[in-house]
Amino acid sequence: MTQISLDPTLGAVVLQSAQNTAIYPYLWLRDNCPSGLHPDTQERTFDLLSVPEDIHPSDCALVDNELVVTWALDGHVSRFSLDWLEQYQPGRLNSDAARIPATHWLNGTNAPVAPATAGDLLTDDVALLNWLTETKRSGLGLVSGLVDEQAGMAVANRIGFLRRTNFGKTFEVVSKPDPNNLAYTSIHLPLHTDLPNQEMPPGFQFLHCLANEAEGGGSVFCDGFAMAEELRRVDPEAFEVLSTTYVPMRFHDQDYDLGTHQTVIRTDPFGAIVELRFNAHLAGILDIAPEHMAAYYRAYRQLMKLIRNPDHHFEIKLQAGQMAVFDNRRVLHGRRAFDPQTGRRHFRGCYVDRGEWDSKIRVLSRANKESA
Ligand code: OGA
Ligand code: ZN
Repeated sequence: MTQISLDPTLGAVVLQSAQNTAIYPYLWLRDNCPSGLHPDTQERTFDLLSVPEDIHPSDCALVDNELVVTWALDGHVSRFSLDWLEQYQPGRLNSDAARIPATHWLNGTNAPVAPATAGDLLTDDVALLNWLTETKRSGLGLVSGLVDEQAGMAVANRIGFLRRTNFGKTFEVVSKPDPNNLAYTSIHLPLHTDLPNQEMPPGFQFLHCLANEAEGGGSVFCDGFAMAEELRRVDPEAFEVLSTTYVPMRFHDQDYDLGTHQTVIRTDPFGAIVELRFNAHLAGILDIAPEHMAAYYRAYRQLMKLIRNPDHHFEIKLQAGQMAVFDNRRVLHGRRAFDPQTGRRHFRGCYVDRGEWDSKIRVLSRANKESA
């Protein structure tokens, strides 16, 4: 049984049940009155400045599982279902199907890589939702059964629109003359995240293996969140330096000069690690005060040592028809050198940002719920 009362000191309606006290401030209620949402788009059209800050009800009642509030100002009536009020109780984070906690993996051999086949991902919404969820959780997914050269990008396109960068909407990773990127050579690529020099680095990266017949050319992955968390545990000072020092990152060629200042480790307001920007090739000329450099280099080298430790690596030599998919703002990737004289190596890549990935998870979960 829900009891209703008004708390004039808080300026709020209080709903009290056996298990729960929920407080709904008057202005919040008026701001969220269903009449203030456009009937087609469900976007808010209500003008917050059309009511005073101290708006309050003249009457408030529970009628047929609805809270009915009549406003003293103009007699406007707002109705809220109790289910809706329970779902959006202030002070609790709104529920979100895409809020999937990361499973950090320190030990590379136990990496919880999320497997899937392209056929399932392209035709089965439930399979896609499960794989999007698990790939987000571990940061790394592996797709097999890509039957033609377009299949990798088709999987990416099914999730969301591709993030275009200065390397194009899709890019061909082949060893070529006059490269503008070390990926387009045959040398060893140490573990890195792509394009940390961008204001917002691309989210999920797709690397579809079209051919990998040369000697060498294996792929290496490492969970950057686990590395940062380990750094925080063993060397909190280094963690503090890398999460608070803004350093330059830059890519430049004939046509572009893309740069930013950012921290190597980014945490959210609760201290959780949300992003790594780690790419030796794109580190700009360090421009912090000389007296801070020793501490910065020490911290950065500590992180580098953790990342370079083979115990932390998941290694795989991808075969034609396989594709690695990983959160580029979390999982570092690298490649072993290869000898182009011994065979062809060709990967095709693209990115889908985290926002599109999460949107697909939410939309597919919605459909799942409706059919349940
Ligand atoms: C890249 C990259 C890895 C590879 O293109 O960003 O790191 O396996 N490629 O060639
Ligand atoms: Zn790369």
